[in-house]
Amino acid sequence: MFAQLTTETDPQARRRIADAVTIELVRHSVAEEMHLYPAVRQYVPNGDAIADKELSDHAEVERVLNELEKTDTAAAADFDALVRRLVADVTSHVQDEENNLFPALAEHAASENLLELGQKVQSAKEKAPTRPHPSAPPATAEQAAGSRRGAGRPRP
Ligand SMILES: [Fe+2]
Repeated sequence: MFAQLTTETDPQARRRIADAVTIELVRHSVAEEMHLYPAVRQYVPNGDAIADKELSDHAEVERVLNELEKTDTAAAADFDALVRRLVADVTSHVQDEENNLFPALAEHAASENLLELGQKVQSAKEKAPTRPHPSAPPATAEQAAGSRRGAGRPRP
């Protein structure tokens, strides 16, 4: 989807792809913050430092997503710059999780705990908010409670 976001030039199509990318990234954040990072704090000796680093990565990604939402997709240069930042932030975050978080968790948590954790994260991703725009009415109360995006502008 990142590739589509960087190559698509039609403003409306860009908005649709940006919304889809936002949904995926919010699902990732919600699921990890609900289950993965608490487990890292619980099992890994320096887990707090790792979890705090990943949380600050998520906050940065969320900040870029909020800016992207406010940016006119027809303003190509602004939009492109934000997309480049988003791709760089997400790439470096995923690498950090793969290089630091997951190896530490694998070393310190029992395999049955890891298995259970994987299932919890997967199921949380499936239940996470599916709307990128908090101003739209929530589909369910659970989604409303789970919605974590900041104030967005009203959208048609
Ligand atoms: Fe993450």
